[in-house]
Amino acid sequence: MLLVIFLVYFVITPNEISMDMLTSGMTVLPSDPVPDFKEPIQNVTVAVGREAVLSCSVTDLGHYRVGWMKADDQTILSLDTRVITHNPRISVTHDDKLRTWQLRIRQLKESDRGCYMCQINTNSMKKMLGCIDVLVPPDIDDSKTSGDITVSERDNVTLVCQATGQPEPRILWRREDGSHILLRNRPDDSESVDTFSGSTLKLLHLDRRQMGAYLCIASNDVPPAVSKRITLNINFAPSVHVLKSLVGAPIGGNAKLKCDVEAYPSSNNYWIKDHEENLLNGSRHYIHEKKAYAKIISRHYIHEKKAYAKIIMILTIFNVTKSDLGGYQCVASNSMGRSDGSIRLYEVKIPTTTTTTTTTTTTTEAPTTEYIFENAAVTSPRTTDFEMIPIEEEPVENWLFPSVAPASLELETKSSAEDHNNFSVLRLVSVMLFIFR
Ligand SMILES: *[C@@H]1O[C@H](CO)[C@@H](O)[C@H](O)[C@H]1NC(C)=O
Ligand SMILES: *[C@@H]1O[C@H](CO)[C@@H](O)[C@H](O)[C@H]1NC(C)=O
Ligand SMILES: *[C@@H]1O[C@H](CO)[C@@H](O)[C@H](O)[C@H]1NC(C)=O
Ligand SMILES: *[C@@H]1O[C@H](CO)[C@@H](O)[C@H](O)[C@H]1NC(C)=O
Ligand SMILES: *[C@@H]1O[C@H](CO)[C@@H](O)[C@H](O)[C@H]1NC(C)=O
Repeated sequence: MLLVIFLVYFVITPNEISMDMLTSGMTVLPSDPVPDFKEPIQNVTVAVGREAVLSCSVTDLGHYRVGWMKADDQTILSLDTRVITHNPRISVTHDDKLRTWQLRIRQLKESDRGCYMCQINTNSMKKMLGCIDVLVPPDIDDSKTSGDITVSERDNVTLVCQATGQPEPRILWRREDGSHILLRNRPDDSESVDTFSGSTLKLLHLDRRQMGAYLCIASNDVPPAVSKRITLNINFAPSVHVLKSLVGAPIGGNAKLKCDVEAYPSSNNYWIKDHEENLLNGSRHYIHEKKAYAKIISRHYIHEKKAYAKIIMILTIFNVTKSDLGGYQCVASNSMGRSDGSIRLYEVKIPTTTTTTTTTTTTTEAPTTEYIFENAAVTSPRTTDFEMIPIEEEPVENWLFPSVAPASLELETKSSAEDHNNFSVLRLVSVMLFIFR
């Protein structure tokens, strides 16, 4: 017996021997009780990297021996508590009281998946199977998954996401900003969903609202779930939207003209006066752009984020003169096309009563009211409270020409809760001033 073991261990490659060779030459006394398995071996399901343990319980072993082998290729792994295979991750523990022989595989790999055989070297060999299922967390297969993509409006696009893992991962799509996914079969027939299940997401008849980052999320209950971000860019000609096409300003005051522009790729934007004069930054004009914010309302939350492909064009005219009155065009153009919007600037006559009203009346009416807004002190003479130019977040200090005091009270429409309070105060004061006039 010792010789056999010796041979097994040093002469023959362990993987090539079989249990039968080990049992040959053993002397068995007829009076010995016959060993048997106490209970079935419990199958185990273990995540990759963890330890799997198969427990073989044997009664009346006597001088027989218990061995473990891999069922599919008949590799011998252990005999008694001695590990025969050259696999450092495998060990065997024996509990004499419980009469168990435990096969332990540490740092489990996918290749360890399968059934293992516990054998007792009785004359007619007794064996029993126990199986290990190896769970593998999801992994997104980049080579079979869509990357960032740019298409045009009305195109169709298919986003694909493939993941491996055990059990097979589920694929879920959602938009990064929490907005809906638009599923459309015909241009006029669309359905919006929060999430979409399945490895391919078909988006037909694309429109600009579908632009943005999509997340494909693979999960299979074995943490961690993984996701890939796929950006869908949709080219479209600019569209210009004018919220306020008539803007009034007093001579000597300031005027602010605005156009909302939506375009991808981003457009070149400029201002024209009366269809001919191209306006530039200078002592009387300040031209700039601002990112627009989109309010995202989903079932779970409301938040603001930079809107894709949206900006606000702003033309500020300082110290308005008669010649500034007239028609203005904001123009936006990109590779897909060109669009413009028109705004008319008209004169607002300032009531001349202020000069005659005495200081006493003005004090009761709070002639100048100071509002603290975004760290900028905005002083608003009562004469111009009536004329309000809306929506501008920038503090007055940021203006290019701070020497010109703003003639009008600026209100803005950001939507954080604190600001809302300030607005209502501002609005209330404005209304009161108007009534008192
Ligand atoms: C273990 O799994 C194998 C293969 O799936 C099956 O044949 C056997 O019945 C299972 N054993 C137990 C105890 O469930
Ligand atoms: C998009 O798919 C629809 C339906 O499959 C098809 O009728 C249409 O021609 C496709 N559009 C383009 C631009 O390929
Ligand atoms: C005007 O000046 C601002 C600030 O310096 C700049 O952001 C903007 O692009 C300029 N506009 C033009 C038309 O040059
Ligand atoms: C506004 O323009 C008028 C006329 O051009 C000029 O007299 C006046 O000084 C200007 N005011 C400011 C504050 O620049
Ligand atoms: C205005 O908003 C600021 C912060 O943005 C806040 O500290 C302040 O209390 C607000 N004022 C009023 C009158 O609500």
